[in-house]
Amino acid sequence: MIILKISLIEHIVCPKCYKKFSLKSERYKQSEVDSGILICNNGHKFLIIRGVPRLVIDETTGFVKTEAAFSSKWKKYNKYYHQKNWFLHQQNWFLDRFGWKNLNNFNKFLKTRNKILDAGTGIGNSAKLFSANSQSHVFAIDASESIDFAYKKYGNQPNIHFLQADLRRLPFRKKFFDFICSDQVLHHTKDTATSFKNLTGYLEKGGLISIYVYNKKAPMREFADDFIREHTTTMSEKECVEFSKDMANLGRILSQLKKKITIPRDIPVLKIKAGTYDIQRFIYWYFLKCFWAEDGNFERSVGVNFDWYFPKFAFRHTPDEIKSWFADAKTKIVHFKEIESGISVTGKKL
Ligand SMILES: C[S@@+](CC[C@H](N)C(=O)[O-])C[C@H]1O[C@@H](n2cnc3c(N)ncnc32)[C@H](O)[C@@H]1O
Repeated sequence: MIILKISLIEHIVCPKCYKKFSLKSERYKQSEVDSGILICNNGHKFLIIRGVPRLVIDETTGFVKTEAAFSSKWKKYNKYYHQKNWFLHQQNWFLDRFGWKNLNNFNKFLKTRNKILDAGTGIGNSAKLFSANSQSHVFAIDASESIDFAYKKYGNQPNIHFLQADLRRLPFRKKFFDFICSDQVLHHTKDTATSFKNLTGYLEKGGLISIYVYNKKAPMREFADDFIREHTTTMSEKECVEFSKDMANLGRILSQLKKKITIPRDIPVLKIKAGTYDIQRFIYWYFLKCFWAEDGNFERSVGVNFDWYFPKFAFRHTPDEIKSWFADAKTKIVHFKEIESGISVTGKKL
């Protein structure tokens, strides 16, 4: 049964005016709210549908288009991303990028946290990871319809609350959280820097925030991304799925070559480093995004390409830019890891 935990309502406020909510016309299932209306003290109304409060208020084109892209991505591919091997792969990648080394260390840290925000949870795998300490509350939000799949899968975890909400217009009081994580999300908002700044306002003093954003790639790859995305972001969803299949197939063909090339010396103009590369990886990092999953999952590979080419917003950033956001938000960087695809950073609110 998909139901809203009634205790959630005491924690959330109106995303328009930050007044408290009361609940009207509610229908219960097993003493939890399945549907109803949230009305704030100023009369702003929001629906609860299928156990999830629907609190998104941004109706601008870029936002709607980006969220529609994710809604359709998750609708098509959710089951491939809920698979156990993918969950474990993502979990290990998370622990590695954010410097936790192993699950034990991360779970020890979670024991010290009470209120956690998973900003842009997608289909909820990260919320599940953050819920290991049963004494804490995990508030997992996403602006897209992925939240329904997240809720279906993990809604029965007593300490996870799912909400459909925009991380730029959060339904919480300032300084509410002691850990915020926004993994692979902020670059899909209309302005990565201001979205980050906004999130830090919800972090208490001494609280930690972890983010991962796309790294700026080598110049030819950036050029190709801009050129291709100019086309793909205006395609119909169906056209972009077909294009994403082409990219997955190209990635697969290159990968199956199992050929390596050696670049004898650095080529600074193209930001190519001397070394030996698998041909698919070389083309992927320096020239063209044609993702192919190592485990050979075609649907997930298409999903990853679609995720890159279809959303209206997909910004890339440099390490210096990110460092300046943390300084500006008075958040001390305690962990920083740059890899080709992106940059994972944790900061402590001063
Ligand atoms: C690539 S997915 C990452 C999901 C998850 N954090 C993970 O690591 O698997 C990006 C998610 O960010 C969500 N998103 C983008 N902009 C958002 C916003 N303004 N507010 C909330 N969620 C947003 C999208 O709907 C999408 O589900």
